[in-house]
Amino acid sequence: MHISTYSTADRAARASATRVLECLRTHPSLVLGLPTGLTPVPLYRALVRAHQLGRADFSQATTFNLDEFLGLGRGDAGSYRTFMDTHLFAHVNLPPRRAHVLDGRAKDWRAEVKAYDARIQRVGGLDLVILGIGRNGHLGFNEPGPTLAARTHRVRLRTATRRANAGLFEGDWRRVPTHALSMGIGTILGAREIILLATGQTKARIVARALHGPITTRVPASLLQAHPNVAVCLDRDAASAL
Ligand code: PGA
Repeated sequence: MHISTYSTADRAARASATRVLECLRTHPSLVLGLPTGLTPVPLYRALVRAHQLGRADFSQATTFNLDEFLGLGRGDAGSYRTFMDTHLFAHVNLPPRRAHVLDGRAKDWRAEVKAYDARIQRVGGLDLVILGIGRNGHLGFNEPGPTLAARTHRVRLRTATRRANAGLFEGDWRRVPTHALSMGIGTILGAREIILLATGQTKARIVARALHGPITTRVPASLLQAHPNVAVCLDRDAASAL
């Protein structure tokens, strides 16, 4: 694990963006795993800026988002699909048919998660996945628990996670869906390279537990310790308990 600390959240995000751009340049048909949340917003801003300056070509890339709320999808305020459209997809030349986000409105969620895994498999798995970390240590929506699912699955969201997402629902956490679809931990750990981006004081404690504590399903991000190619990008606040 390679841990880097930057003076600000913006610098940490830009360092992650630099690595994405390097990978894209050397491997234009890159398969990316992408997160949502407040943390990656400056990362997406940096990618969009690079594209506008002619320094990022997504025309051959493929992306798979980590998760989506059950019941929400394209065009819904609060959906991660809308988040991605707003922050990245609408501004870069990624072909829409290769920008994959789980459809939380699918009639049959079981068929949807199966099809998602099949699509990831068909393109040969993820080359590079960018992750945020929940305050409870979740990756994607793989919540802490006695077990973790390997493949894409339906999850019941913890109250803490619903509260953390209230901002997407006019501050009312009760409006945050109770369930979501999430890529599994096996698929995430199967990526050839992983970048974990964490910023802010609220992440300090969980970052320390994830990076230096025991590997346990109670802290899903601790499983990253077992991956051979992880870069951790932190700002000073998120690194303050290391
Ligand atoms: P955040 O979410 O970036 O909004 O803190 C991270 C996560 O829950 O994975």
